[in-house]
Amino acid sequence: MKRVLITGATSGIGLGLAKRYSANHQVIACGRNSEVLQQLSKEHGVVAKAFDVTDSDAIASNFAELQPLDLVILNAGGCEYIDNPNQFDGKLFERVMQVNLISIGYCLEHLLPKIKPGGQLCIVSSSSVYLPLPRAEAYGASKAAITYLARTLTATLNDIGVTVVHPGFVETPLTDKNDFPMPCIVSVEQAVSEIEKGLEKRKAEIHFPRRFTYILKLLGLLPFSMWLPIAKRIAS
Ligand SMILES: NC(=O)c1ccc[n+]([C@@H]2O[C@H](COP(=O)([O-])OP(=O)(O)OC[C@H]3O[C@@H](n4cnc5c(N)ncnc54)[C@H](OP(=O)(O)O)[C@@H]3O)[C@@H](O)[C@H]2O)c1
Repeated sequence: MKRVLITGATSGIGLGLAKRYSANHQVIACGRNSEVLQQLSKEHGVVAKAFDVTDSDAIASNFAELQPLDLVILNAGGCEYIDNPNQFDGKLFERVMQVNLISIGYCLEHLLPKIKPGGQLCIVSSSSVYLPLPRAEAYGASKAAITYLARTLTATLNDIGVTVVHPGFVETPLTDKNDFPMPCIVSVEQAVSEIEKGLEKRKAEIHFPRRFTYILKLLGLLPFSMWLPIAKRIAS
C-alpha cells in the first residue's frame, strides 16, 4: 500500500485529503488537534502525528523514524490579514511567515530524504499569488514565496515529482472567518477531487476552480499599472 504524509490533516482541505487517501493508502496525518487526529486514527486507520509545524525540533523527532514515503502533501497553513498597512503588524507578519513558509523548510529538510525515487511532493500555495491583493500583504507574500520554492524544486529535483496547488476559495474553517464575498467558492470535496486528480497525472501545477483561476491568471498578465486602480478600489 502506498504511503502518504499530509500536514494540516485535522481540518478543511487536509482533513478531506486524509479521509480520501485513507481509503486506499496508508496515511500519516499531521496536525496539532489531537482529538481530531485520534478520531481519524480510529475511524480511518491513519497514523497520527501531533505537533506544531513551527517547531523544528518536534518536526525532527516526529519524522525521524518514518518509513519511505510515496507522497508528501505540505498543506498546513493559516491566514491572517493586515487590516491597516499604515500600522503594519510585524508580529502578525512573522506568525504567518512561520506557519506558512518557514515550516515548509523544516519539513523539506526531514521529509525529502524519505520520499522514494519516483515519489511525489505536493505543496499547497494559493491563487492569491496571481495578483497582489489588498489585506494579503502577509498571507499573499508567504504563498508567493511557497510557489517560488515549489517551482524551483520542480526544476531542481530529478527523482521526485513536485506539484504546487493554487486553490481559489474553498469552504473551510479558514474561509469561514472571511467577511467579504468569495466568488466561485468550492466545497472541500471538490478541492480534494481536483488535487487527487492532478496528483494522479503528476501535474506541476494544480489550480481550481478554473473559471476563477483563469481570470486571476489573465488579470495577472496585465501590466501592474492596469491592475493598480482595481486593487485600490478593492482596498477602499
Ligand atoms: N480555504 C481556502 O479557500 C484556501 C485557499 C487557498 C489556499 N488555501 C491553503 O490550503 C491550506 C489548508 O487550508 P484550509 O482552508 O483547509 O484551512 P483550515 O481548515 O484552517 O486547516 C488548516 C490546517 O493547518 C493546520 N495548521 C495550522 N497551523 C498549524 C501549526 N502551527 N502546526 C501544525 N498544523 C497547523 C491545522 O491543524 P491544527 O488546527 O490541528 O493545528 C489544520 O489542519 C492552507 O495552506 C491554506 O493557506 C486555502
